[in-house]
Amino acid sequence: MNIQELDREYVAGTYARFPVTITAGKGSLVTDVDGKDYIDLTSGIAVTSFGACDDVWYKAICEQAAKIQHMSNLFYTEPCAKLAEMLCTRTGMRKVFFSNSGAEANECAVKVARKYAADTKGPDYSTVITLKNSFHGRTITMLSATGQDHYHELFRPLTPGFVHAEANNLEYMKTLADAHKTAAIMIECVQGEGGVVALDAGYVKGVAEFARENDIALIVDEVQTGNGRSGQLYSYMNYGIQPDIVSTAKGLAGGLPLGATLLGEKVKDTLKPGDHGSTFGGNPVACAGGVSILGRIDDELLAGVRRKSKFLFEAFTGVPGIEAVTGMGLMMGLKTTKPAKDVVNACIAEGVLCLTAKDRVRLLPALNIPDDLLAKAAEVIKKCCA
Ligand SMILES: Cc1ncc(COP(=O)(O)O)c(C=O)c1O
Repeated sequence: MNIQELDREYVAGTYARFPVTITAGKGSLVTDVDGKDYIDLTSGIAVTSFGACDDVWYKAICEQAAKIQHMSNLFYTEPCAKLAEMLCTRTGMRKVFFSNSGAEANECAVKVARKYAADTKGPDYSTVITLKNSFHGRTITMLSATGQDHYHELFRPLTPGFVHAEANNLEYMKTLADAHKTAAIMIECVQGEGGVVALDAGYVKGVAEFARENDIALIVDEVQTGNGRSGQLYSYMNYGIQPDIVSTAKGLAGGLPLGATLLGEKVKDTLKPGDHGSTFGGNPVACAGGVSILGRIDDELLAGVRRKSKFLFEAFTGVPGIEAVTGMGLMMGLKTTKPAKDVVNACIAEGVLCLTAKDRVRLLPALNIPDDLLAKAAEVIKKCCA
């Protein structure tokens, strides 16, 4: 059997994989089993922040793996402490809990918010308001948080305690929060899986203000939008707000599994020993990867992300077959006249990897994708959309 046959036989069929087997990559180019090169505008769904096998990242994780690859969280390790310090210094948050994925980072966020509400208002203050069209992960509780019914249907009963508000409707949010004993409001500033749609600036500010006035924990899910993708280190920074809790994962460790839940002043000491934990969370190799990635998401890199984003917005605006361009930074959605899936398949045949999100073509290139590759890929996409 070849690799695709072997996979179809033995790997659980949860993914509608594209018929491409990738064997290697360097930067924003990846190579398939037949030696064909592709320009990668997916970054493993916003994971390989500096592209495939980035030299600095590779050296950092290899050096750490050669020292020690894992220790239990009952002992201290340097990469974990260092990365937490970097995250706090760069965000104004105060403490970090490390896990392995976005869903886990969100689970921790909800646990912290509920415990804080229980401590300050009483244990019945447990409702978490999320938005319709949101995506927060695939554990049963994060499915429940996710505001898209089609993810729920086959997996009931879901975890109780989540209600979904219409995005960009502040009055609706306030009414819902008043109608429930609310512990937290959780939002993605740009709904990624929901079609790459940025929330209105006034709405996000209004929600943050309402949450602060009512001592409701504001959780911003930065799993996909975080770590430079939006053109700022975290997407909430584009909105001038300060969340109480930030969850992130994906691009943080550049390609190794690492989730992080950043805790602000109000909730920094909510979790006590035994309240939460993870065997692999804060793994030294993953954290060494994170230190090498985060350390390079500086002002210059972020300015580059915004410049490349502007180039893409301009390249796709008013082009035949593209009806709308949405998103922020290097997280972009194209509403195409042709079905998005057909456009993506055509792009792949032409040597450009991209994705879909709902009815949109979704682009998530590496933050440092070279300009010439981006321009070449944009031409292919335009041709496939026309
Ligand atoms: C906004 C958001 N939250 C949470 C998740 C879940 O992350 P993970 O697949 O790492 O559990 C995702 C994944 O796409 C996401 O985009």
